[in-house]
Amino acid sequence: MTNAFISGTGSYVPPRVVTNADLAKDYGIDTTHEWIVQRTGIEERRFSEPGVMTSDLALEASKQALEAAGLVPTDLDMILFATLSPDMCFPGTAVFLQRKLGLCEGETPKFVGAMDIRNQCSGFLYGLGTATSMVKSGACKHVLVVGAETHSAAIDMTTRGRTVSTLFGDGAGAFVVSATDEDRGIRSWHVGADGRFAEKLCMRVWDIAKRPYVDLDEEGNGKVPPEMLWPHMDGKVVFRHAIERMCGALLQACWANGVELKDVDLFCFHQANKRINEYVANTMGIPPEKVLSNIERYGNTTAATIPLLVAEAERTGRLERGMKVAMVAFGSGFTWGSALVDW
Ligand SMILES: CC(C)(COP(=O)(O)OP(=O)(O)OC[C@H]1O[C@@H](n2cnc3c(N)ncnc32)[C@H](O)[C@@H]1OP(=O)(O)O)[C@@H](O)C(=O)NCCC(=O)NCCS
Repeated sequence: MTNAFISGTGSYVPPRVVTNADLAKDYGIDTTHEWIVQRTGIEERRFSEPGVMTSDLALEASKQALEAAGLVPTDLDMILFATLSPDMCFPGTAVFLQRKLGLCEGETPKFVGAMDIRNQCSGFLYGLGTATSMVKSGACKHVLVVGAETHSAAIDMTTRGRTVSTLFGDGAGAFVVSATDEDRGIRSWHVGADGRFAEKLCMRVWDIAKRPYVDLDEEGNGKVPPEMLWPHMDGKVVFRHAIERMCGALLQACWANGVELKDVDLFCFHQANKRINEYVANTMGIPPEKVLSNIERYGNTTAATIPLLVAEAERTGRLERGMKVAMVAFGSGFTWGSALVDW
């Protein structure tokens, strides 16, 4: 039987560190380091410089993942790109990554399929599940799954937007999912969604029911009011549902494989709020030393959090061959997902 395993991981964060104190000092946001750390666990995040695009961050993470897998871009059969901060409204960012990987050039271009996934913080696990099925079905041998975000360009960096803007950061992570005959790899994946809460964490920008979809001024320039322009979140509702759905998705992953929670070696939870993950771990009786965390350094990088976390754990020796790894995410939509992996 063909199994799907993670043959390479990679990550990239832009070099510029923005501390909680910088948010107050440099941007004039009425906030404090203490408030942010106490409510979220975040101490700093990375912001990329103007001119850097989401596909640029993804390129660095993808190159690292390909190298770790011992592959070159032309070995890929498909690219799946999860992001809520795409380079453009359309086309999707996967095609820009495909081009930057050099797949459209040279003597033997390879015009592999390139697809975007729009499931926010759960997007990477939606992508991992899709890649797993593509590989197990025999349709693809190697699939690149990327999660990358440039939040710094599209959050309200004023006191008005502080409930959202203090949480998010930029970054990218990537896995190569490959076929193997060995008895290992991604054992199961589950995803879910509850569209009743779609507006509880959203960014509208336009209203497609209007003609045209944004208001125009006398010169024909588009005008977008702040409540449409920036992300909006009902933090308390998100918090409550995140705990409930993440616990459920984790149990689903274990039940599907006849595995008990105590048999899992590492828990890779989406990094939205340290308190959410502590709550999930406490509720499920998971020892803190089995729960990975990097929210302190990067904030919430939405679709990038899980591959970033896993790639860093692999690089630092925290994640080793033979370990049983659970990945769980929750985000806007609401959407959620889980995967259980024998590394
Ligand atoms: C965002 C979140 C940290 C806010 O924490 P909270 O305890 O719910 O705080 P509230 O939104 O009720 O705000 C409490 C007070 O702090 C203020 N506040 C909000 N953000 C602040 C900030 N960055 N700095 C200082 N004060 C802030 C609010 O204005 C409010 O003030 P008020 O009482 O005078 O009105 C929390 O709701 C959360 O983490 N939710 C989930 C977020 C998440 O996971 N999002 C991504 C999902 S993938």
